[in-house]
Amino acid sequence: MLTTTSMKTHGCGEVTKQELGKEITIAGWVSAVRDLGGIIFVEVRDKSGLFQLVSDPQKNPEVYGVFQKLRDEFVIKATGIVSERPLETYNEKLPTGDIEVYPKAIEILSTSAVLPFPLNADDVSEDIRLKYRYLDLRQEKVLNCLKLRHEIVKTMRNYLNSQNFLEVETPILIKTTPEGARDYLVPSRVQPGKFYALPQSPQIFKQLLMVGGIERYYQIAKCFRDEDLRADRQPEFTQVDMEMSFVTQEDIMKMVEGLLKEVFRLVGYETPDKLPVMTYQEAMDKYGSDRPDVRFGLELFDIGDILMESNFEIIKDTLKAGGIVRAIKIPGIANYSRKEIDDLTKLAISFGAKALANIMYMEDGTAKSPVLKFLTEEQAEQIKQRANAQAGDVVFFVADKPKVTYDVMGRFRLYFGEKLGLIDPDAHALLWVVDFPMFEFSEEDNRYVSVHHPFTMPNLEDIDKMETDPAHCRSIAYDIVYNGNELGGGSVRIHDGEIQKRVFKALGLSDEETQEKFGFMINAFKYGTPPHAGLALGLDRVVALLAKTNSIRDVIAFPKNSNAKCLMTDAPAMATEDQLRELHLRLTTKVN
Ligand code: AMO
Ligand code: AMP
Repeated sequence: MLTTTSMKTHGCGEVTKQELGKEITIAGWVSAVRDLGGIIFVEVRDKSGLFQLVSDPQKNPEVYGVFQKLRDEFVIKATGIVSERPLETYNEKLPTGDIEVYPKAIEILSTSAVLPFPLNADDVSEDIRLKYRYLDLRQEKVLNCLKLRHEIVKTMRNYLNSQNFLEVETPILIKTTPEGARDYLVPSRVQPGKFYALPQSPQIFKQLLMVGGIERYYQIAKCFRDEDLRADRQPEFTQVDMEMSFVTQEDIMKMVEGLLKEVFRLVGYETPDKLPVMTYQEAMDKYGSDRPDVRFGLELFDIGDILMESNFEIIKDTLKAGGIVRAIKIPGIANYSRKEIDDLTKLAISFGAKALANIMYMEDGTAKSPVLKFLTEEQAEQIKQRANAQAGDVVFFVADKPKVTYDVMGRFRLYFGEKLGLIDPDAHALLWVVDFPMFEFSEEDNRYVSVHHPFTMPNLEDIDKMETDPAHCRSIAYDIVYNGNELGGGSVRIHDGEIQKRVFKALGLSDEETQEKFGFMINAFKYGTPPHAGLALGLDRVVALLAKTNSIRDVIAFPKNSNAKCLMTDAPAMATEDQLRELHLRLTTKVN
């Protein structure tokens, strides 16, 4: 496809030998100037690629005079006849490496100061790149991420459009949508003392679209969450958000499987028609995580029953108090030194454990461990059997509260998966995790909070546990997981006002609070609500993973850093006194 405008006939990377002998006009940035004493070669770059221009003072002194002025990143326009390069000067690396142009006319459209960092160098700090993101975007790697993002979005839109979805925009200045993060607030000028929240997701609106009869909705939606940032989290990010009426969990899964099939095809991977499904409990028990990386084994296992019979009093106390034990067998590391094992203990402690126990199975057939003294020979043998341990292996275990045990052992497993090179970088492991718990206890708030969000349908088998045993009430919520990352999540929604009220109650919300926060929604549900369900994919994560980059910042045109700051514009910035007054705000913290 030719990138033609009134200023150029071709994109730099689009010219081919078919144009030999024809006149073309290209325009772009000077990406390299080589002055070979007499002849000057200039590489011109635009979005489509690179093209070589040459100037010989003998042939055209006037054009040569302009060439002498060219510096990196000047913007130029050149016109001339396409000629073939001498065979020995072909550049195999460039698609246009066999042709060139000796311009008959060249124009400098704009000059450039020396760039603050060299393009396409590997060692430029991210801070500098983000401060000058508009220059960073000129780098091939960054541009390629945006191109891939575009292809992915286009593919998703095409797919959803073909499935009769309606793309609908939902508002940004809203009342809170609870997704478990802190809201970004926007003060209202016209209503003193009141605030809009920015949506953490379009959750409430997409459900109301179902009440409105839209049946199949999607949106490439901006979401805002004020939470601790990591490589896979940004304060504003994009969801591919969808909702369907008259569906079950299986319908949503099928739809998303179809969508992901098209998306993964873009990177040459044919996904299975039906993705594997794992329960939340199995994921936690075997992988210590609700986003299990199943590209490698090292599965966790339980030895609580064996230890309960032992003299290992500290661990028995932990178990009696509701704790759990999980063990992992790491093959071939029984030759580790004392220091190496101590370092692993420190690692587990840094993950949150109080201690890490180990049993080393030595080459001579003996077992070595500081915990054998608590075990009978039979119990030690039972552990060995359960681990299926061979000479050279080491079994590690942790006993703690379930959350701590899972988290520590899950991270320990990932550490060894990487360290032992067990992860195939070309593997694609997609799966569903289902049957998430409905609630989890928040120590911070001293009450149960929603694991997903409060509009998630409880599993009807467990519905009475909402009042009696909230910790064991399952929900109809599901996540799609890829190579150990949560790509997206969703749930079947409550479409029955009475169940919704019971959920709010289980969350400790009084009738007044419920009315004040979600009254409009409860009210809407009085007027004929179809059963509905949905899911949202984290678009930035999908793109980053398919681009094989570690950070979602790489696939966002203008991302924020880990302090939620835009290094390019310096947002967030101070408000002026006048602005604050107009918004009826006064700062209580003195800031410089
Ligand atoms: P959830 O909160 O699981 O579900 O979000 C869906 C997906 O959005 C992505 N995501 C993020 N990506 C980048 N930065 C962040 N801070 C961030 N937070 C979330 C993740 C996640 O899987 N309304 C529900 C969906 C539903 O029930 O339909 C929701 O927002 O990839
Ligand atoms: P000692 O201090 O010699 O009595 O041995 C105690 C052993 O038990 C140490 O190896 C500890 O690492 C281990 N240990 C203690 N508490 C736990 C726990 N909660 N989980 C795993 N191992 C533990």
